Amino acid sequence: MSATLYEATTSAPVNIACIKYWGKRDTKLILPTNSSLSVTLDQDLLRSTTTSRADPFFMKDRLWLNGKEEEIKDGGRMDNCIKEMKRLRKALVEDKEPNAPKLSEMKLHIVSFNTVPTAAGLASSASGFAALTTSLASLFALPLNPSELSLIARRGSGSACRSLFGGYVAWEMGTKPDGTDSLAIEVAPQSHWPEMRAVVCVVSGEKKDVGSSVGMQLTVETSPLLQHRIKHVVPARMESISKAIKARDFDAFAKLTMADSNQFHAVALDTTPPIFYMNDVSRNLIALVEEYNRVCLQKTGHLGAAYTFDAGPNAVIYTLPDHIKAITELVLYFFPASAVGFYDVLNIFPEAGGKP
Ligand code: PMV
Repeated sequence: MSATLYEATTSAPVNIACIKYWGKRDTKLILPTNSSLSVTLDQDLLRSTTTSRADPFFMKDRLWLNGKEEEIKDGGRMDNCIKEMKRLRKALVEDKEPNAPKLSEMKLHIVSFNTVPTAAGLASSASGFAALTTSLASLFALPLNPSELSLIARRGSGSACRSLFGGYVAWEMGTKPDGTDSLAIEVAPQSHWPEMRAVVCVVSGEKKDVGSSVGMQLTVETSPLLQHRIKHVVPARMESISKAIKARDFDAFAKLTMADSNQFHAVALDTTPPIFYMNDVSRNLIALVEEYNRVCLQKTGHLGAAYTFDAGPNAVIYTLPDHIKAITELVLYFFPASAVGFYDVLNIFPEAGGKP
């Protein structure tokens, strides 16, 4: 009997991209066709919490997601992440310390819970694979930094690599065919611009019709607009938004975020057959934020809010503390609970300033 319990629990937050990742140049290694940048919504509400246990008596690797067992497909993403983590355990720990327990030879039981509507375009796969990676890194006592861990989370779900950091995070696409330079880096820590807030409007908690993997490959294969985007638009936007974040320039941040969300949905529409992720409620939320910004510009010369939509109809509205009251009142007035299951105003960096 094994006397020691080999178990670790960690949690990871979701991240919402301002410059979107959409398209892979290598589907097996999950290497993107463009770099991307996100804000980590580092709070209690939207997270994945994962417990991993290794035991010599387990017969096979098993996974329970939100209380339901899911198959770990041989050669699938989950399997790739687990194999890679076991390989690193062996190379970095067991081969170096002869007395270290041979966890790499044991099977794993993994239990994960999301407080995010799974697969509804609110990045549950990002927090899920980030939490899986950190829980295995902790179980295996791997001496790796967040960028190094992001290489493995990336193999689960591309956007997951950005959830290894808090604050403002870039996923650099890299150029190497083996993907060793396609990793997440910190653009700025959350303490650099702690005022940022996210208003999350859950328009639908349903699973989306076209999953992001299938959708983005259809776009890569058929959209001429995507080619223009990856060559001529995203590189400049990555530079500009990094500058905006470093300068805490909300006007520039908001303009780039909204433009990039709109271009991402334009390339989805430019796909054959076309993909529609937003619905009428989403489009009306865009109209509301655009109108709010028009009035703000007139009154103060500055923008007040920025919408962004991932591969689903739900909106995330980035804004600053001065605008929170007006934005939430407007959303609740025009989109009562029947239209928008209004989620929360997230003080996305709670330790920096308490609930708004
Ligand atoms: O990581 P995936 O395969 O779930 O793709 C995510 C794609 C978007 O959320 C639409 C954009 C992004 O950069 O997160």
